[in-house]
Parts: sequence; structure tokens; C-alpha cells
Amino acid sequence: MKVLGISCSFRKWGNTDVMVKECLLGAKEAGAEVEFIRLTDYEIKPCMGCMRCAFKGQPCPIDDGVSQVFDKLVESDALVIGVPTYILGAAGILKMLLDRSMPLMFSEKGRLLHGRPAVAIIPYGVADWEGLTAAQISIFLLALGYRIVDRIIARCQGPGEIVLNEEVMKRCAEDGKRLVLGLTDYAGEQGICPVCQNSLLEVKGLKVRCPICNIYGHIIIENGKLSVKFEDPHNHRWTPENMERHFEEGMYPSVERYLKLKDKIKKSLAKYKNL
Ligand SMILES: Cc1cc2nc3c(=O)[nH]c(=O)nc-3n(C[C@H](O)[C@H](O)[C@H](O)COP(=O)(O)O)c2cc1C
Repeated sequence: MKVLGISCSFRKWGNTDVMVKECLLGAKEAGAEVEFIRLTDYEIKPCMGCMRCAFKGQPCPIDDGVSQVFDKLVESDALVIGVPTYILGAAGILKMLLDRSMPLMFSEKGRLLHGRPAVAIIPYGVADWEGLTAAQISIFLLALGYRIVDRIIARCQGPGEIVLNEEVMKRCAEDGKRLVLGLTDYAGEQGICPVCQNSLLEVKGLKVRCPICNIYGHIIIENGKLSVKFEDPHNHRWTPENMERHFEEGMYPSVERYLKLKDKIKKSLAKYKNL
């Protein structure tokens, strides 16, 4: 078994590196082959939005390091990925990579990732400034089809200081082993949504909705404890069937609609030409 560790922090020996590496040490102890990479060592250009991957089934025309990273994902059996919190969200490089992942999602190779276990590592520096990082890393993993085994959200500020936090280090090492030995997932202990594990919910009339997984539920307060009863928790947006429906019904028909309106759109856009 091979476990890949990806750090999405630019800071060498920073907290993300340390936590990801501690998971890898745990995995190694449990018998796995491990590899550590830093996303910032790869050139990752922005998605151009050409949609050739989605509508024409063509490979991405951008020549950079993204395909090397995807090859590493496909060649490993499990993933540990860490991203630091920057201004209430994940460091931008994670989103840059996610935006470029459509060709992988459309490929046979990408399907190999479905159901593979992953651990998410989320360092943040200041109390109550965790922001949306955990949600963003859940989106990354679910969009690629991974199963979230655990998310470690840890407060740490200076580079590498997390190494002194015994509790977090222990959980990292345990999670590394968990990936290899197939032990019970921690996921479900944290957050409210049973799929993405986040506590973010939108209020929609008398219901609530997980905006990440698109499942609806009702808030229940019993004995002073709040919980949410989701109506159809297995029918979330990330199931292979719903993802396929998203492409078939949400995306592909937009081509025909656009082509019908193309001339009209071009005429209406003419007034912006000289700005
Ligand atoms: C540009 C920048 C923005 C940051 N914004 C936040 C923030 O919004 N909330 C927070 O809790 N920590 C924030 N931090 C602190 C980092 O999340 C924290 O130091 C983390 O441990 C860094 O991980 P690293 O050592 O792997 O780089 C920020 C750090 C930087 C460099």
C-alpha cells in the first residue's frame, strides 16, 4: 500500500508539513510505502475555463505540473493532504489545483480514486479564525471521490510549533495507521453534515441545507442538544450517479443553449469592445 502526503503550504518545516509528515510516519510504521510532496514545488497555472475537458473530452491544453500531481494521486492508495488557513480560507494553491481537476474527474484514471481513504490536515493560527478551510478541503476530497477518514483542525501559529502538541501529533500518527489498517473512520464525530463533516448550514425557510453536499434537513433540539435530521443523507451531490446527472443535465445542455444564443450574445457584447 502506498500513502501520498501533500502539503499545500509554502513554508518548509511549517505546521502543515509537520502534521502531514507525522501521518506518513504512522502509515510507514503500519507497513505502508510513503511519499511526501509539496504542492508549491509544482507549477500550477489557473484554469482557463475553455471546457475542452468537459465538452470535448480533450486533455487540458495547459502544460505545467498539474498532471504530475494527478499521476501521484492515482498511483497511491490513500492520501493525506494539508492546507494552512489564509484569511479565513484555504491557501489559494488548493483551489488552483481543484479548478484544474475536471480532466481527472472525466477520466478512467480519476474513477480509480473513488472510495479511497483520505485524511485532511488543517492548521490555523488564531482562535475563532478557522474560517472555511475545513469546508474547502472537504470539497476538494469529495469532488475527487475520496472518503474522508478524519480531519485534524489544529491551532498553531509559528512554523513547526505543532510538533510540541502531543495530542495532535498522536492523532496524526494514528490517522496514518488508520489509512493503512482500515480502522474505523473518525469522521462523523465532527461537524453536522454526515457527508462533508462540516457545521456550515444554510437556512432555507424552515429547513437547513448543507451547501457543500446539497442535502436538506430539520433542526431538532432535544434535552438542550441540537442535531439535524437530514431527509435523504445518502442522496448527496457527490454520489457517482448525482455527479453524472450534474454533467448530463446541468452542464452538457448548456452548449446547445449557448450556440443558439451565440450571435445575439456577440451583438449585445459589442458595446464593451472599446473599453
Ligand atoms: C497570509 C496568511 C494569512 C493567514 N490567515 C489566517 C486566518 O485567517 N486565520 C487563522 O487562524 N490563521 C491564519 N494564518 C496563520 C496560519 O494559518 C498558521 O500560521 C498556520 O500554522 C500556517 O501553517 P504553515 O506553518 O504550514 O504554513 C495566516 C497566515 C498567513 C501567512
